[in-house]
Amino acid sequence: MIQTKHLEKTYRNGFRAVKDLSLHVEKGDIFGFLGPNGAGKTTTIRMLDGLLTPTRGKVLIGGMEVDGHASEIRRMIGVVPESHGYYYWMTAKEYLQYFYALFNHGGSDEKYLRALLAKVGLADKADVPVGQFSRGMKQRLGIAKALVNRPQIIFLDEPTLGLDPRGQREIQQLLFDINKSDGITIFITSHMLKDIEVLCNKVCIIKDGSLVEQGSIRELQEKYRDGYSMLLQTSDNEAAEGLIRKLKKVARVAGEDGQLLIECESGLSDDEVLSVKHELVTAILSNGLDIREMTHKTLSMEDIFFKVTDAEKEGIA
Ligand SMILES: Nc1ncnc2c1ncn2[C@@H]1O[C@H](COP(=O)(O)OP(=O)(O)O)[C@@H](O)[C@H]1O
Ligand SMILES: [Mg+2]
Repeated sequence: MIQTKHLEKTYRNGFRAVKDLSLHVEKGDIFGFLGPNGAGKTTTIRMLDGLLTPTRGKVLIGGMEVDGHASEIRRMIGVVPESHGYYYWMTAKEYLQYFYALFNHGGSDEKYLRALLAKVGLADKADVPVGQFSRGMKQRLGIAKALVNRPQIIFLDEPTLGLDPRGQREIQQLLFDINKSDGITIFITSHMLKDIEVLCNKVCIIKDGSLVEQGSIRELQEKYRDGYSMLLQTSDNEAAEGLIRKLKKVARVAGEDGQLLIECESGLSDDEVLSVKHELVTAILSNGLDIREMTHKTLSMEDIFFKVTDAEKEGIA
């Protein structure tokens, strides 16, 4: 659905903000484009939207090259930019009407625009001026605006930036819904790892303009996990820690937020992991301690991000 080939951008001052970037986003993906501030996310997304001309390389949207097909591409995509130029005097409905008219040579579709406002949770705000909206409401209106032309793809640049946790959650749910019920492909940039983790099926991590990793979250969890890890809570974690340290094939034990994080040696088979678990449970119970909770720990997006960027530093990735 979205493909870039050796994409590069050098700004007029000679700064190379994006280097040799090849991406592949499939139809129906919620694709997270991740990287620290200044990594080149906004530069890239603007090239995908056709708002910025690449210095080198190509962007294909739905198999069509962006360069030379600007108006066809504009009909296929919706864009929620990093910062919007809102027309503060307009009401929410007028704002959508304005963009609807741009796409449809004038005209209006009251029913459709009302349905869009309802979709983003602003049904009762249709006649309120945008100037009175909170940041979260503006962001949701921006998403409605991006949907006005019934796009197949929407691009969002840091859509949850500056929102409180509730606002972030609302945007995540809205994007999830748009993707699931309308089948819209979503390309989202963020420097907030949590955002990406809950929302995206695929991610790409860039740093200093270059791609460092790309894949599904599951693939990255598999790739970067060293050994099987679990979290354990017992009636006496300190005592348990001492017992677990003595077990074979346990590489590390550490306290973490009132729990014990236990990492097995890497490269163990499923059977070996199972026998470590058995020995661990036996050791704890036979010493008169209780197990309150025991869970398999998967890598968070944050764990992966640090592993990816550290590995790169050491020249592994
Ligand atoms: N118009 C410009 N001219 C020169 N350098 C720029 C311009 N816009 C952005 N940059 C630089 O390019 C790099 C990437 O910026 P950007 O794409 O905005 O990163 P991100 O969105 O990941 O924070 C930064 O170092 C930024 O300072
Ligand atoms: Mg940015």
